Amino acid sequence: MTPHKTQVAIIGGGPSGLLLSHILHLNGIESIIVERQSKNHVLGRIRAGVLEAGTVQLLRDVGLGMRMDKEGIPHDGTSITWEGKPSLFIDVKKYTGKSFMAYGQTSITEDLFQQRELDNGHIFCEASDVKISNVEKKRPEVMFFYKGKSQKIICDYIAGCDGFHGVSRHAIPQKYQRSFQRNYPFGWLGIMAEVPPYKHVLYGYHSEGFALASQRNPMLSRFYIQVNINDKIEDWSDDRFWEALIKRLPKEVTKSIKTGPSIEKSIAPLRSFVSEPMQYHNLFLAGDSAHVVPPTGAKGLNLAVSDIYYLSRAIIESYKNKNFMHLENYSRTALSRVWSAINLSWRLTKMLHIFPGEDPFDEQIRQSDYDLLLKSEALQQALAVQYIGLPFDL
Ligand code: FAD
Ligand code: PHB
Repeated sequence: MTPHKTQVAIIGGGPSGLLLSHILHLNGIESIIVERQSKNHVLGRIRAGVLEAGTVQLLRDVGLGMRMDKEGIPHDGTSITWEGKPSLFIDVKKYTGKSFMAYGQTSITEDLFQQRELDNGHIFCEASDVKISNVEKKRPEVMFFYKGKSQKIICDYIAGCDGFHGVSRHAIPQKYQRSFQRNYPFGWLGIMAEVPPYKHVLYGYHSEGFALASQRNPMLSRFYIQVNINDKIEDWSDDRFWEALIKRLPKEVTKSIKTGPSIEKSIAPLRSFVSEPMQYHNLFLAGDSAHVVPPTGAKGLNLAVSDIYYLSRAIIESYKNKNFMHLENYSRTALSRVWSAINLSWRLTKMLHIFPGEDPFDEQIRQSDYDLLLKSEALQQALAVQYIGLPFDL
């Protein structure tokens, strides 16, 4: 077997891995992506939908804005509804001068995959038994099987972009790693339906549980409701889903919600997780391989993009100017942004969901959180600043 030689081996061909490979290519740096799943599987996954202003700008800057600007739906703010209380519009544009974009992760992954193929990018899909070695040495290695044959990549750097269930994080010896985790005792049931979406991205609190109205394009709606952690998809017919959603949102909203048959339905568990540091010698973790947030706040994909902004800049600087400062600081820089998103996602999750077994004190605190938000422009502004996302370079 002749080993493949490249500058950066990227484990995982999700949004983090594909974006890193694309940005490196734009800067004349070679990479190879090793992805466990098939191309169809990667392109078929339905996940995030809301892009922060910084993510939108970065995608435009790297030549990936065309379809997003055509099909995505820009928003100046987001709505919160609350059982028995007035609704609230968080005017993000007023407080930050910026808008966010509803555009699906599925479309971003398609755009990235297509661009990598146009640029003859090297992607091994359906790679199995991926292993990492020599990360402490000058020439780290990635081993895997592809079409039944053993393969080896020798490189300068390895980027672990292989999500929460990947192998990269586990290549860091435990004694150098610290992890923080919170699991939530409920899940999100999401459906996609080919009906015109509700006009806003809307987060709703109700004593029967959280609900969210979102969108992908003018003819594609995405909705979520909080469900029990042990619920199965089979428990939720379309009719049961719509009935629960309509019950959890106020009449002034539901009168303009269009329902229809679901074209996709899935249940996602919710967790907060951070593994520190995000670097070990020549191995760099990015995206969900290093951290996971519950989707309340829509930060997961946006964090993956900001990680790649920092990591690509660091790798480019190391090759172009022999400047290793950004590489050395990568973990610290990325983690500062990660923790602010972990914080927001945790607070929003706590405020907007019913937790099984919670007592009346918890409920009073929740009600008081919303009352304060309703009354205080300063708190609305603070939420707007976090929702639109901190600038990449602070
Ligand atoms: P991933 O998208 O997980 O990509 C990792 C890639 O690595 C995958 O393609 C995987 O197949 C591959 N891989 C895994 N193991 C290996 C291996 N051993 N070898 C090679 N390749 C491997 N965020 C939001 O903001 N809003 C949402 O609504 C939302 N919904 C979500 C729903 C679900 C079910 C999940 C799991 C996540 C959701 N997220 C959401 C989070 C968001 O989708 C992620 O933050 C984002 O996908 C992170 O991108 P990534 O490239 O880092 O990881
Ligand atoms: C989505 O559109 O999938 C979405 C939107 C907002 C969130 C989470 C998910 O907070």
